[in-house]
Amino acid sequence: MKSFSTAFGVAAFASTVAGHGYITSPQPREPGDAMIAACGKQVANTFSSDINGNIQGVLQIAPSQSDYDADKCNIWTCKGMQFDDNTDNVQSWTAGEKVPMKVNIAAPHTGTANVSIIDTASSSPIGEPLIAWSVYASTATGVQANQTSFDVTIPSDLGSKCSTAGACTLQWWWDSREADQTYESCVDFTVGGSGSGSSSGSSSGSAQAATSTQAAASSTKAASSASATATAATTPVNNVLTTSAAATAAASSTATPSQGSSSTLPEEFTAEQFISWFKQVTGVTNARRSLRSHPRAF
Ligand SMILES: *[C@@H]1O[C@H](CO)[C@@H](O)[C@H](O)[C@H]1NC(C)=O
Ligand SMILES: *[C@@H]1O[C@H](CO)[C@@H](O)[C@H](O)[C@H]1NC(C)=O
Repeated sequence: MKSFSTAFGVAAFASTVAGHGYITSPQPREPGDAMIAACGKQVANTFSSDINGNIQGVLQIAPSQSDYDADKCNIWTCKGMQFDDNTDNVQSWTAGEKVPMKVNIAAPHTGTANVSIIDTASSSPIGEPLIAWSVYASTATGVQANQTSFDVTIPSDLGSKCSTAGACTLQWWWDSREADQTYESCVDFTVGGSGSGSSSGSSSGSAQAATSTQAAASSTKAASSASATATAATTPVNNVLTTSAAATAAASSTATPSQGSSSTLPEEFTAEQFISWFKQVTGVTNARRSLRSHPRAF
């Protein structure tokens, strides 16, 4: 059986940025031209090439960029991703509706997390978090299944607060003091109806079906508009997952060099071991296809 060394893995993904996590469903906000205008090319490019990246890392470069406008970018809400780039990607929910969510954790860092409704005018949460974890993505105990796949229930006391697209956004927020990194990912939505829920299943289903086809289009749009200075801006979604996993491989092989436990890789590993580890770390089930699609590795 063919065996790859960790060194090969690191070299093959040398151009990657360490990635950490993002919502995968419902379709989250993505970078685009409005983000470039607000946050500058460098910040938008950084998140275009690694959607999972953290805010603190970007803030090391952002303030020195002449095209970074801190007020417009509003980096601590949705990582500076702008509603204006995502106007054709707005979920339609009803009060009391249960919304299934999926998150990709590309690299765990012990922290806390929650999912909250944010009033975009003030960038502050409306009410209590819809779900919260006091320990999230622990490097000690591993990522729990219910941290990457869970339901949130849309409150029934929102009134008309979130009835206009862009007024509210649903923000997944994960903060790791261990890593001094904060990650955010937002889903735009409106809430109408009285919570009778009679049409919620089909309307949200068709909204999701419609938006899933936009995912590819909008990430291509973001990548091409941001490609001026980005080296990896054209990386499609599968490759982002692949390269994030590789960054994790580099990190975990350094931290835990010899043991091939389920969440770390041994110094030498087979393709089978890598794929099984990759699935576990990223939650990607079509790992073989993702890996094969990487232009340089495998
Ligand atoms: C929930 O997330 C927000 C960011 O959206 C954060 O400011 C707040 O401290 C978190 N609350 C809890 C209880 O974790
Ligand atoms: C997630 O699952 C763990 C154990 O599997 C359980 O202890 C915990 O309460 C669950 N958390 C949530 C938010 O459902």
